[in-house]
Amino acid sequence: MNTVLVTGATRGIGLELVKQFLENGNQVFATYRGHTPPDALNALLSTNQLSLRPLQVTDEKSIAELVTILDGIAIDILINNAGSIGPVNQSYQDMDAKGWAEAFRVNTIAPLMVTSALIPNLAISDSPRVITISSQMGSLHRESVGMHAYRSSKAAVNKVMQVLALELKEKGIIVCPVHPGWVRTDMGGDDAEISAKESAQGIVALTSQLTLADTGKFLTWEGKEHAW
Ligand SMILES: NC(=O)c1ccc[n+]([C@@H]2O[C@H](COP(=O)([O-])OP(=O)(O)OC[C@H]3O[C@@H](n4cnc5c(N)ncnc54)[C@H](OP(=O)(O)O)[C@@H]3O)[C@@H](O)[C@H]2O)c1
Repeated sequence: MNTVLVTGATRGIGLELVKQFLENGNQVFATYRGHTPPDALNALLSTNQLSLRPLQVTDEKSIAELVTILDGIAIDILINNAGSIGPVNQSYQDMDAKGWAEAFRVNTIAPLMVTSALIPNLAISDSPRVITISSQMGSLHRESVGMHAYRSSKAAVNKVMQVLALELKEKGIIVCPVHPGWVRTDMGGDDAEISAKESAQGIVALTSQLTLADTGKFLTWEGKEHAW
C-alpha cells in the first residue's frame, strides 16, 4: 500500500489516476481547486482510503496550506498532473503573451513548487517517487508546429524534472516526467487515441516498477523511454 497525492484530480487523467490508485488499495490524497470538490470526486468518498484537499497549484499560500495539513505524513508517490493547454491564441502570428506566462505557471513552475514543498513528506517514504505529467508535445526531438505556449511549457518542465532528478537522487527520490499518451479528456478531445482509464492504468503500473536507476528518464504511459 502506498500513499499517493494527485494534483488536478477533478477530471480527465487526474480523476482516473485517483480511481486506479484506489482500486489497487492505495491511500490517496486527491486535490482540487475551488471551494468544494466536484461530484466526480465526492462520489469516490465512500472509501476511507481517499482524502480530498484543496490546492491551487500556482498559489504559494495554497501549497503552504496543503503542506501544513500533510505535516508528518509520508508521501510515496506524488503525481504532478494539473496542467493547462494554455491560451486560445498561441501561434507565432497571434501569441497571447499573458496566457503563455500562465501556462508556464501551471505546467512548469507549479510542479517544481509543489514537489519542493512536499520533499519532507517524500523524504520519510521508503520508496519516494515523483511523476510529473508532461507531454510528447514538449519533446525537442519531435518536430511539430503551433501550440508554442503549451509545447514550450512542457519542454521546460521536462528540463526542470531532469535537473531535479539529479538533485534528489542522493535522497533516494525518483523523479520522472511522463507522457500520458494522447488521451480522450477535455484537453485531449474526442479523437484522441486512448481513454483516461488506459492512460492511468499504464501510469499506475509504471510507478510500481520504477527504481532509482530510472530517475531522470522521460517515460511514456507504457513505461517506455521517450526521446527528449
Ligand atoms: N489529454 C491529453 O491528450 C494529454 C496529452 C499529454 C499530456 N497531457 C497532460 O496530462 C495532464 C492532465 O491532462 P487532462 O487531459 O486530464 O486535462 P484536463 O481534462 O483539462 O484536466 C486538467 C486538470 O488540471 C487541473 N488544473 C488546471 N489548472 C490548475 C491549477 N492552476 N491548479 C490546480 N489544478 C489545475 C484542472 O482542474 P479544474 O477542473 O479545476 O479546471 C483539471 O483537474 C496535464 O498536465 C496535461 O498537460 C494530457
